[in-house]
Amino acid sequence: MTHSFKKNIQIKNVKGKVGVLLPGLGAVATTFIAGVLAVRNGISKPIGSLTQMNHIRLGRRDEHRNPKIKELIPLTELDDLYFGTWDIFNENAYESAINAGVLEKELLNQIKDELSAIKPMPAVFNRKYVKRLDGSHVKVAANWFEYYELMRQDIREFKAKNNLDRLVMVWTGSTEIFLKTGKIHQSKKAFEAAMKENHPDIAPSMIYAWAAIAEGVPYANGAPNLSADFPAAYEFAAEMGVPLSGKDFKTGQTLMKTILAPGLKARMLGIEGWFSTNILGNRDGEVLDDPESFKTKEESKLSVLEQILQPELYPDLYEDLYHKVRINYYPPRKDNKEGWDNIDIYGWLGYPMQIKIDFLCRDSILAAPIILDLVLFLDLASRSGFKGIQEWLSFYFKSPIHDANLYPEHDLFIQLMKLKNTLRVMAGEEEITHLGLDYYI
Ligand SMILES: NC(=O)c1ccc[n+]([C@@H]2O[C@H](COP(=O)([O-])OP(=O)(O)OC[C@H]3O[C@@H](n4cnc5c(N)ncnc54)[C@H](O)[C@@H]3O)[C@@H](O)[C@H]2O)c1
Repeated sequence: MTHSFKKNIQIKNVKGKVGVLLPGLGAVATTFIAGVLAVRNGISKPIGSLTQMNHIRLGRRDEHRNPKIKELIPLTELDDLYFGTWDIFNENAYESAINAGVLEKELLNQIKDELSAIKPMPAVFNRKYVKRLDGSHVKVAANWFEYYELMRQDIREFKAKNNLDRLVMVWTGSTEIFLKTGKIHQSKKAFEAAMKENHPDIAPSMIYAWAAIAEGVPYANGAPNLSADFPAAYEFAAEMGVPLSGKDFKTGQTLMKTILAPGLKARMLGIEGWFSTNILGNRDGEVLDDPESFKTKEESKLSVLEQILQPELYPDLYEDLYHKVRINYYPPRKDNKEGWDNIDIYGWLGYPMQIKIDFLCRDSILAAPIILDLVLFLDLASRSGFKGIQEWLSFYFKSPIHDANLYPEHDLFIQLMKLKNTLRVMAGEEEITHLGLDYYI
C-alpha cells in the first residue's frame, strides 16, 4: 500500500500585485518592510527566508534534483508586494523604524522615500486590551460590528486605490491581554451577535481578522493573542475559502527550544528543569511588562516543551520537568534581547548535567523573514484553494493553530518536513519519507 497523498491541486496564476496588510507598524513590521525594500533595491540579502533562499530535494537522492522552492512553485516576486498598515500612532514607516532602533539609520536612509510613503491608517484599538499603550490615531465607532464594517471598508479602499490583485494580512500589533475562548467564539452567528453587543471577550485583533476573512484575505497572527484562533473564525474562513495561520512568531528562545528539545529527546536524555529568562527593552517588552499581556505570551511559550517531550509516554525522563519562563523589561537593551536558558538534564543511571545558553538575539531580525515567507505561502495557499487552518505553516509559530481533535506539532524538524512535503504535493511531486531502504536492496 502506498501512503502518498496525491491530489490534483490547481494553482492559480501568480501574476499580479499583492497587498501586504499589517495591523501594527512597530519594530517587527518596519524591519520586515525595510528589509523587503532593501532586498528589492539590491542593498541586502534575504537571510532567514525559505521562500527566497531554501532549496528543496525532489525525487530519489540519486536524481540530484534540488531546485530552489521558488523555482519549484510559483511565488509572488518581491517587486510585486505593496504595503498597507494600521497603527495607533500616526508615524510613517521611516519614523517608526527609526524609533524602533532595530536597523541602522544609514540603511534606512537609503530607502527613506519609499518608507516615508507608507503611512498607517487609523487603528481599531481599546486600551483595555493593551494596558501599557495609548495612542490617538484610532477609529471611533459605536460597537465592534461598526468597527468591523469600517475595517472592511479600509481593506476594500486600499485594494482599489492601489490597483492590487490580491491581499494577505499579518497581525504585527502588540500582544493583547489573555482571553479564553468562550461561548461567543463558538459559531459565526454567536460571534456576529456579540460584536453588535460590544462583548468584552472580543479584542481589536479579532476585528481585523474577521474583516480580513470577510474580504477573502488570508490571515496570519504573529502575536499570541486569540485573534482568529477560535471555532467561529475557522467556520467563517472555511466558508469564505480563506487560509488561516498563527499564532506567535517562533523566534529567539522558543526557536532554540524547539531545536534543542527534540534532540535531547531523540537520545532519550532526561530533563529535570528548564529555566528561561529574557531581558528586552523595546515597546513589545514594555507591553509584556503588563502581567495580563505577559500571561498570553507565557501560555504560548510554555506549551512547547510539553508537546515535544510527551511526559505521559516518558515519565522517567520528563514527568517532573520544571519549566519556567520570564520576560523582563529592561529599556537599555532596546530590541537586542538577551535570553538565558539553564537546562538541567540527566543521562545514563540518572547522572546530572547542565546546558547553559546565552542567546544575544535580535528579535525583529528573526521575525522579519517569517513574515515574508508567511505572506508568500499564504498567497500560494489561497491560489491553491487551501482554506481554514494551514497546519503546514506551523514551522513559523510558537503556538500553531490546529484542529481541536489533533495536538499541535512543535518539533521544528517535523514541521519543516510537513512544510516541504506540502510544497512537493502542491507541485505534483512525491512526498519524501527518508526511508531510503530501496537504495540498498
Ligand atoms: N519580534 C519577535 O521576535 C516576535 C516574536 C513573536 C511575536 N512577536 C509579536 O509581534 C508583535 C509585534 O512586535 P514588535 O516588536 O513589532 O512590537 P512593537 O510594540 O514595536 O509594535 C507593535 C505595534 O502595534 C501597534 N498596535 C497595538 N495595538 C494595535 C491595534 N489594535 N491596531 C493597530 N496597531 C496596534 C503599536 O502601537 C505598535 O506600534 C507583538 O505582539 C510581539 O509579541 C514578536
